[in-house]
Amino acid sequence: MQSILVTGGAGYIGSHTCLELIKSGRKPIIFDNFSNASSRAIERMEELAGTEIEVVNGDVRNYEQVSKAIEDYNCEAVIHFAGLKAVGESEVRAMDYHDVNVIGTHVVLRAMKQAGIDKIVFSSSATVYGVPKFLPYTEDHPRNATSTYGQTKLSVEYMLEDVRRSGEIKNVAILRYFNPIGAHSSGRIGEAPNGIPNNLAPYVVQVACGKRDAVNIWGDDYDTPDGTGVRDYIHVVDLAQAHLAALDHLDAGKGAFTVNLGTGNGSSVKEVIAGFEKACGKSIPVSVGPRRAGDIACFYADPSSAEKLLGWTAKLNMDDMCRDQWRWQENNPNGYED
Ligand code: NAD
Ligand code: UD1
Repeated sequence: MQSILVTGGAGYIGSHTCLELIKSGRKPIIFDNFSNASSRAIERMEELAGTEIEVVNGDVRNYEQVSKAIEDYNCEAVIHFAGLKAVGESEVRAMDYHDVNVIGTHVVLRAMKQAGIDKIVFSSSATVYGVPKFLPYTEDHPRNATSTYGQTKLSVEYMLEDVRRSGEIKNVAILRYFNPIGAHSSGRIGEAPNGIPNNLAPYVVQVACGKRDAVNIWGDDYDTPDGTGVRDYIHVVDLAQAHLAALDHLDAGKGAFTVNLGTGNGSSVKEVIAGFEKACGKSIPVSVGPRRAGDIACFYADPSSAEKLLGWTAKLNMDDMCRDQWRWQENNPNGYED
């Protein structure tokens, strides 16, 4: 059975991906320092998978720990989710963001090279494109990150492109996620943000379950059909499945690639709220405020490269995303603390 080191595997996207890995007959080795994850997520994953899951409590900045995990479990590839991801926080903790996201990735690559493994799937983000010069974003859209977080993703993309060219790590998959939302259909695992959610969907479900008063719509005067921001939301399970398609591609010796992972459809803030109202069967209070600094009016993916290269397309729609995220929220109003 192929062992895959999954850094950040206890987190939101990592946990869903580990379940898909197990379903496909692979063995995930979770490597996580639990700085933004709960050990309860592991218990729930084991319950859903019906098997024990190997977990290493370690930090991606620690070369010895990463090397040891790769060697102990004879890992053949790495899926690298571990990182810090809050845009606002990155503006006040730039040193930490570069440390974990950029240096952490360098450490993982060094450990891979030492162990002689050369397949890595990396979590990048649509944020590397910056202000759209055209839409939908294709993979060759110019890159221009506008935040420290985005800059760290861009730095890692450049690092991965360099090590691929040098031949030190050849099989590099760069996956640019659009806006992942939703949860596992069981309602047992999902996103559990600490404190006030920064992103739209977790905020909306906290309002829907009565934890917060109203959704703040950050601007309704954008040049979009209803004036609110438009994004390409993708179900986390569709996203998880794309990682398997990426591994299959690398395993087949088809080489390095970079793809967008989105649905190709834009949805506005108001449409997302309407989707959640349908899912939870009640109206969700809103209040319209000023635009959020640094926000882009509208962006969405051209996901056709992922389809051509990997045979992957997103299958789930906004109704599925809202239903599953609401089920998770309703059953676990306090995330993994319930
Ligand atoms: P998450 O915070 O839920 O998961 C990240 C995991 O990494 C957590 O379990 C955390 O404990 C772990 N981690 C953090 N620092 C670590 C360290 N130094 N050593 C070991 N483990 C560490 O985030 P997520 O939403 O699952 O995102 C996963 C990846 O995808 C991240 O790299 C993120 O930047 C990227 N991404 C996420 C989104 C999104 O909207 N969620 C969008 C684009 C890209
Ligand atoms: C944010 C990050 C981006 C990251 C992405 C991951 C910022 C500036 N950008 O993007 O780098 O890759 O998350 O999913 O943080 N909105 C509201 N009210 C809210 C929250 C959001 O109206 O309480 C609106 C926003 O203005 C935006 C849309 O909802 O139009 C989506 O916002 P969000 O979920 O934060 O995602 P992004 O802004 O796309």
